[in-house]
Amino acid sequence: MKVDLQTFSQLHYPAYVLEELRLRKNLKLISSVARRSDTTIILAFKAFALWKTFSIFREYIPATTASSLYEARLGYEKFGSRVHTFCPGYTDDNISEIAHYSSHLIFNSLSQHQSFAAKAKNANPEISLGLRVNPEYSEVETLLYNPCAPGSRFGVTADQLPEELPKDIEGFHCHCHCESGADVFQRTLAHIEEKFGKWFPQLKWINFGGGHLMTRKDYDTELLINILNGFHKRHPHLKLILEPGSAFLWQTGPLVSQVVDIVENHGIRTAILNVSFTCHMPDCLEMPYQPQVRFAESIGTDADGLYPAEKAPHIYRLGGDSCLSGDFMGYWKFDHELQVGENIIFEDMIHYTTVKTTMFNGISHPSLMLAHPDGELEMLRKFSYEDYMNRMD
Ligand SMILES: Cc1ncc(COP(=O)(O)O)c(C=O)c1O
Repeated sequence: MKVDLQTFSQLHYPAYVLEELRLRKNLKLISSVARRSDTTIILAFKAFALWKTFSIFREYIPATTASSLYEARLGYEKFGSRVHTFCPGYTDDNISEIAHYSSHLIFNSLSQHQSFAAKAKNANPEISLGLRVNPEYSEVETLLYNPCAPGSRFGVTADQLPEELPKDIEGFHCHCHCESGADVFQRTLAHIEEKFGKWFPQLKWINFGGGHLMTRKDYDTELLINILNGFHKRHPHLKLILEPGSAFLWQTGPLVSQVVDIVENHGIRTAILNVSFTCHMPDCLEMPYQPQVRFAESIGTDADGLYPAEKAPHIYRLGGDSCLSGDFMGYWKFDHELQVGENIIFEDMIHYTTVKTTMFNGISHPSLMLAHPDGELEMLRKFSYEDYMNRMD
């Protein structure tokens, strides 16, 4: 099906639409940063795992990261290269299989290293082992996304590390960012080097995690490249790795939905859609944040009572089709009265949303589609009743 990528007017059912041109633009930028800074930049699966598009990624990046057995297997089988794995807790049941799929395996604690290093090496003698460290410095303000908050379960702090690292530890992994700028990385790196620099001579590589939002318009990529090249100069023996997720998929496509009804209560008008915030855009409720809607103006989430329906006829809450009372967001101003059947297009709904969705309430899942540059929509996956039923089996 060919569609107008502005209005999606030919599309009459809900779908996440990944736009190939926008994806390639991000991939080009990321691979150029990688080349100019001599850094391996790989895709974090937690943000995106639509494996039917991996052939596009393969043109630009060599590998992916995993944080579980299934992600590791997906990387190995579908991306076609061994993965860099960090998992907070390996177990006897999964360590050998994970190690088989991994080129790099990172332990969250010294006790995990003690329990599973030998098993990992046994399963894959070529594997390079690392340790996650926690610099106790992060500028991420939302606690839900701050891996270095006091009491964090992630990584070994400097005071817990022995002067001499276990012989088989070859790298450090450090994840401190979330949608952050290069200036934040610069300040964080100063803390990392101050706290952990004395161990660097014992290492071969360091992975500075994700959260480097280098494809955002205002991101200073030149600064990032300078920081990484400066690090190379100070520590020429260390290979550098970054593992962003969001940056690859930033602004690469919308969730297209349709209005199914308009209801009104206490002067508040809600357009009920055939998608759900809790099932299909969970970060909006978790973070929380109000997504952009194409052809509409955000009025903000604190406007209850400010725009009574009779005085502001084009202002709506948008409501999900689940039974969760809080499955709505407000308010958006449209330039016309919404009609049943018309499209509501939520911007930037590819990273994290497509991996975090649920089938709560038995609500049908939006299709997954790839929009080619000529406007041709390729169906990657259409979901059915069987998908819901099989999960409950
Ligand atoms: C260990 C690790 N690496 C990479 C990422 C990817 O981060 P982002 O998608 O913000 O770039 C995350 C996100 O939570 C993470 O926890």
